[in-house]
This record gives sequence, structure tokens and C-alpha cells, in this order.
Amino acid sequence: MGNPLVERMQGFGTTIFAEMSALAVTTGAINLGQGFPDTDGPPQMLAAATHAIESGRNQYPPGPGIPELRAAIAVHQRRFYGLEVDPDREVLVTAGATEAIAAVVLALCEPGDEVVTFEPYYDSYAATIALAGAVRRTSVLRFPDFAVDEASLRAAFSSRTRLVLLNTPHNPTGKVFSRAELELICALAREHDAWVVTDEVYEHLVFDGSEHVPVATLPGMASRTLTISSAGKTFSATGWKVGWVHGPEAAVTAVRTVKQFLTFVASGPFQPAVAVALGLEDSVYAGLASSLQAKRDLLCEGLRAGGLQVTQPAGTYFVIADAAPLGVTDALAFCRRLPGLCGVVGVPVSVFHDDPDAARTLVRFAFCKRDDVLHEAVSRLAALSPG
Ligand SMILES: Cc1ncc(COP(=O)(O)O)c(C=O)c1O
Repeated sequence: MGNPLVERMQGFGTTIFAEMSALAVTTGAINLGQGFPDTDGPPQMLAAATHAIESGRNQYPPGPGIPELRAAIAVHQRRFYGLEVDPDREVLVTAGATEAIAAVVLALCEPGDEVVTFEPYYDSYAATIALAGAVRRTSVLRFPDFAVDEASLRAAFSSRTRLVLLNTPHNPTGKVFSRAELELICALAREHDAWVVTDEVYEHLVFDGSEHVPVATLPGMASRTLTISSAGKTFSATGWKVGWVHGPEAAVTAVRTVKQFLTFVASGPFQPAVAVALGLEDSVYAGLASSLQAKRDLLCEGLRAGGLQVTQPAGTYFVIADAAPLGVTDALAFCRRLPGLCGVVGVPVSVFHDDPDAARTLVRFAFCKRDDVLHEAVSRLAALSPG
């Protein structure tokens, strides 16, 4: 029967994450390849989930999400960003940010429409754009500073541009887009009458006083912006898959139309727990960021001591390191050898690119791990150093 997979999804086979995680298991290496924390989020949130399960909140929640979570999302947007969001008409709860991204792209794009995004990109972007039959147009963020290149960004826009799919703070680079960069992106979106879809799942994971600027707060942008986030990163609960999208009512209605036929609903008892978490005091949010900042410093120091060149990330829980100073010319081959060389796993950044040459020698490592795990990883990485 040949390959039953539809043509537009060919090329999206097993991801490098599966290969590298399997390698970590078989070699006993420390897995800094996958981006999930190895500790739990706030105890109040965990207790609220247990309570929800024990008190019978185990059936389908309402399609748009439970009212208390939608209200908590609206309060969160006002509290941190001064955004006014109507929880009944402008918020939709989704199965993680991943479903929100898919539902938005499928709802807004006709086949042949173009989606502008930056590479490297989170891998679901490319697959989702392909699923929609849309066309990906990218602008490359280049190591070491990952600055937006205005000329290439302008060139990515055309009369077919339907939306810009942006991610700030940005996985895998750890970049937090500056206000000026966002203003440029928004000006181009307005010029081309395009939507801006902004994936802000790392909104609270920013360091050194960097400012996360939600696109919807920029002048005139709320009416053409769909903002996506999720509880997974903010509250170290990636397995709960509670995400959301908010924006103008007509767009959220369109997204809900698609979303109801993807999962319909998800994560029933976790929704009230995330509502509790969103309302926790500022110190909970700040505590996670400061603990991650210390972990970032630890891993960056260890990578430098191992002889790699590192760009210090301003946000997220990822760092990109260049292995070229070690004589590496192919990061994929290097990552396959890394467990044997020093007992650590990372992922080659080329898998997040259309143009693998843009990241030939770059490796992404995650630092959302316990301190003892990171200390051990750092001592192992020291073995890479030639001198
Ligand atoms: C940029 C980005 N967007 C979305 C997601 C997925 O979020 P969720 O687990 O809520 O679906 C991730 C997860 O790694 C991510 O890095």
C-alpha cells in the first residue's frame, strides 16, 4: 500500500527528541534535550487538582473552558499587562498551547495562504502550517545575538501573508523580543493586513529584569492579535495540557469552531487547579523565574567550561551553545556522540530550521532540571574541554 501518510505531512517523521531521549535511556546520560521540568509546580495548585478529582469534576468541562479559569485568565492579563479581556467572549481554553496554535492556524488560513514565522521555530509550527495547507515563510534569527533581520523579515511578507506566528520569549534561542523588534513586526503585519498570533508560553520565565512585552499591549494591536499561553511552563505542569488563547471575539469564535472538532475539551480537573495557580501571589511567579535564572547561570558556566560558546538566554529554559570551538562541524553527529563523550544529551538546533546551515554547529540544552542534576551535568561537560 506504500506510505499511507498524506503528502503534506511527509517530512514530519519521528522527531529528534524521541531519538535523543531514547539515547539518554540506553546510555544513562543526563537528558538536557527535552524541555520539561523534573520538579512539581505550586503545592496549592496540586492540591486543587486532587480536590477537583475527588469532588467529581471528572466529566467534560464546557467547550470554551470552565468559567472560573476563563475569569482567572482575564484577571491575569489585567494584573500583569493591563489588558482588558472579556472572559466570556474573548477567551478559549485549549489542550495546551499546542492545540491553540493548531486551531488558530487551521481556523484562519486557507490553503495557499502564507504564514510568516522566525526560524529556528518550535517544531509544531511547521507541522501545523503544513496541515492547514498553508505556506511557511521564514526569517532567520542568527547566533549569537538572534536579532531580527529587518530585510529578511520584510522579504518574508507578501500579498498572501495571512498571519505572523511569533514566539516570545523564544524557544529554542532564549531570546526575548525587544519592544522595537515587536513594533517592526507589528508594522509589517498592519501593512499587510495580517493577524499576529503570539505564543507567549514562557511569558513568566524571563531573567535579569528583561521585559516581556505582550504583542496585544502594543498600540492598535489588540484588534489583530491572538495571544496564546499555557500553564505548562509557568507552573511546571507540562503534562496537564491546559492552554488558552484570547483575542477579538470574532477570531476566538472562529478558533473555537475548529477546536471543538479537534479535542472538543480537555483536562477537566486540571482547569480549576490552573485557575487557582493563576491567582497565586507574585512571589510564586518571581520565585520560579529566579530559581531558573540560577540554573541558567550554572549550566551556561558549565558549557563554557566545557569549551562551547554560549549565548546567555534572557528567557525560557533553554540555552543554545556553539560546539564549533571544539572542532565540531555537524551538531547532529555531535549530539549522537555526546552521551558517549560525556554522558549528557542535547538536541541539534538544525532540527528547528528550514535552513540547517543556519545552525550547523549549534546545540540546545534545557536547564529546567534539579540543581543536583545540573551540577552533575556540568561536571560531565567539563570532560569536553580540550584544555
Ligand atoms: C514555544 C512553545 N510553544 C508551545 C509549546 C507547547 O505548549 P503546551 O505544552 O502547552 O502545548 C511549547 C512546548 O515546549 C513551546 O516551547
